Amino acid sequence: MRKKGLIIIETAISASLLASDLINLEREIERCEDAGVDLIHFDVMDGRFVEQITYGSPVLKLIRKITRLPLDVHLMVEDPTKQIELFADAGADIITVHAESSCDVPRCLERIHERGVKAALAIKPKTFPEVALDHISLCDMILVMTVEPGYGGQSFIPTMMSKVKMIREYADKNGYTSLDIQVDGGINTETAPIARIAGANILVAGTGLFKSKDMRAVTAALKG
Ligand code: DX5
Ligand code: ZN
Repeated sequence: MRKKGLIIIETAISASLLASDLINLEREIERCEDAGVDLIHFDVMDGRFVEQITYGSPVLKLIRKITRLPLDVHLMVEDPTKQIELFADAGADIITVHAESSCDVPRCLERIHERGVKAALAIKPKTFPEVALDHISLCDMILVMTVEPGYGGQSFIPTMMSKVKMIREYADKNGYTSLDIQVDGGINTETAPIARIAGANILVAGTGLFKSKDMRAVTAALKG
C-alpha cells in the first residue's frame, strides 16, 4: 500500500463492517465500492479475547465472491493459529493478529506470509509500541488500536498518536519505509487528520462511515 520512491503515499480507508447494516451486507459492500473505500475491514471476535462474538471465515468466503476490494481481517481472538489457515483459504488479503493473544508472534506472522497473505501485528491501547517494533521485520503493517478492542462506536484515544509517531520514525530510520501503519477505533472527519499527521496511512472507519449521510464525501474527507 505505502510505496517509496517517486510514488505518492496516499491514505487508504478500510471500512469496518461492524457498523454496517449486516442484514444487507451485499448492498453495504456496494456502497463502500461506490464511495471510493479502499479495503474492507472484517472484525473477528471470539468471545474470549474480547466479549463479543462476530463472524468467521465462512462469511468472509461469501464476501470474497462479491467484491474485488482487498479484505483486511482483524483477528481479535485468543488463539489465532488455526484461524490464519481458515482466513487465508477464505480469501483474506491482510491478516492481523494481536500481540496480546496467546500466539507465538513470529511464527504466526510467518505462517501468514507462507500463505501469500500480508501480515500485520496489532497492539491494544495499554501495550507499548516496542512490543510491535520487536517484530517489525516480519510485518507489512502495524495496527495501533485507538480504542479498546471489542466494540464499535467508541471514542478515539488521542494519546495513542505518540505510539504512531514513534513507530513511523523508527520505521523510516531503519529502512522499513513501506510499512503500513493502521489505526482503528473512533476515526471520523475530526480524528482522521490527527492520525494522518502522526504517520498512520490506513484508517479504519466504522461508525464514522456507515452512519454518515454521504459516504463518498466522508471517505474523501478521511483521506484528506
Ligand atoms: C473495535 C474494532 C473496530 C471497530 C471500529 O474492536 O476493531 O474495527 O469496528 O469501529 P468505529 O469506527 O465505530 O470505532
Ligand atoms: Zn478492527
